[in-house]
Amino acid sequence: MSLHIAANPGDIAETVLISGDPRRAKNIAETMLTGAECFNEIRGMYGYTGNFEGKSVSVMGTGIGMPSTAIYLNELIVDYSVRKIIRIGTCGCIQPGLTLGDVVVAMGASTDSNINRSTFNGIDFAPLADFSLLQSAQKTAGEMNIKTAVGNIFSTDLFYHPNDPQRWEILAAHNVLCVEMETAILYTLAARFNVSSLSLLTVSDNILTGEAASAQDREKSFTDMINIALKIA
Ligand code: HPA
Repeated sequence: MSLHIAANPGDIAETVLISGDPRRAKNIAETMLTGAECFNEIRGMYGYTGNFEGKSVSVMGTGIGMPSTAIYLNELIVDYSVRKIIRIGTCGCIQPGLTLGDVVVAMGASTDSNINRSTFNGIDFAPLADFSLLQSAQKTAGEMNIKTAVGNIFSTDLFYHPNDPQRWEILAAHNVLCVEMETAILYTLAARFNVSSLSLLTVSDNILTGEAASAQDREKSFTDMINIALKIA
């Protein structure tokens, strides 16, 4: 096992779907994979490996935010040789053209996090998705008649910001689509370790209007996103 993951070598598939919420990972394993077996329960951060359409796929929680996510990503890649990581998450949209339930494909992830500033000595590194994974997500979404918005997103360290509307205005004015809390570190570590990664996000909150998705809507739109992720896994 590694420091935070209880799996034996070989227990985790080469492709892992990650979600901030470990119970979503458990739910996906129980409802969408066949023969799923749990490989981690440390800190309640469930990880399962099962089968989807003949492929071995793992699904695991990361917790909220980049520090927590970075721990699991490092161990998945370095200790368990994971090669492809697809995030299935939620986001708050900051563009008027987006609405609750929409699926966002994150081409790049801007961030306010110090994680990258300290790593790159003040240089602004641009964390990017894997291009071929992004292409297959778009192709699959098209075949499934699922509309997506593709572009830059924003990974923030804080869910609750002090009242500062200009914070979102300047990002929206530069075509940033939405706000979440994990993708910048996913794309950075994927680049560092030469693995492929992509973030798919469902709009669960509208930062412009204050709307939040109902439990039922969240469930339905999550299904679209998870289906795309499993098909491209
Ligand atoms: N802010 C940050 N992260 C999020 C949000 C949000 O509004 N909604 C879902 N993840």
